[in-house]
Amino acid sequence: MTSPHLTVVDHPLVQHKLTLMRKKETSTAGFRQLLREISLLLAYEVTRELPLTRQPIETPLQRMEAPTLEGKKLALVSILRAGNGLMDGILELIPSARVGFVGLYRDPETLQPVQYYSKLPSGLEDRMTIVVDPMLATGNSSAAAIDLIKAAGAKNIRFLCLLAAPEGVARMAEAHPDVPIVTASLDEKLDSHGYIVPGLGDAGDRMFGTK
Ligand code: URA
Repeated sequence: MTSPHLTVVDHPLVQHKLTLMRKKETSTAGFRQLLREISLLLAYEVTRELPLTRQPIETPLQRMEAPTLEGKKLALVSILRAGNGLMDGILELIPSARVGFVGLYRDPETLQPVQYYSKLPSGLEDRMTIVVDPMLATGNSSAAAIDLIKAAGAKNIRFLCLLAAPEGVARMAEAHPDVPIVTASLDEKLDSHGYIVPGLGDAGDRMFGTK
């Protein structure tokens, strides 16, 4: 499956670390460490289009006009709870980013996502906003989270995940064709329980050691 707004980061280090994360015998501590490492590499790709301006500086040798990030600090929005694992690594790379959280659960009757928490930074209209959730499965909660984030003013949004299912990519392309997706892998499909296969299991359980 191809999609003009999907980027699969096929860097050897990303792919190697992802394989270690997929292995069922990888420990919680190992999974968390790998997630932090891989999130730094994915952050490199998702921030590729941050605008630059020039600033006069002095090196020990001479003056120069040096590139520096332009505009307001970017915003990271974690979709609870698994998004927090991806966000921690990115914050190491971009410590000045503003941070927001969106919590959604699936209504057992309607199967639709329902918001239970939302806290977003101000000034989203002027910030690149990176929404993070490790698993793009059905895409329903990601699309609903982006609805909320757009309603709060964000216009320049990117979605960062570790694994994507074709179903989730299609749902996002339909609901938010203006939101580019960056992922480490486009997996085969969803199973009947909504898990990505081959996948890595429940990302939240694996990073927090829950069951
Ligand atoms: N969420 C997960 O944590 N894993 C999946 O495979 C799908 C959704």
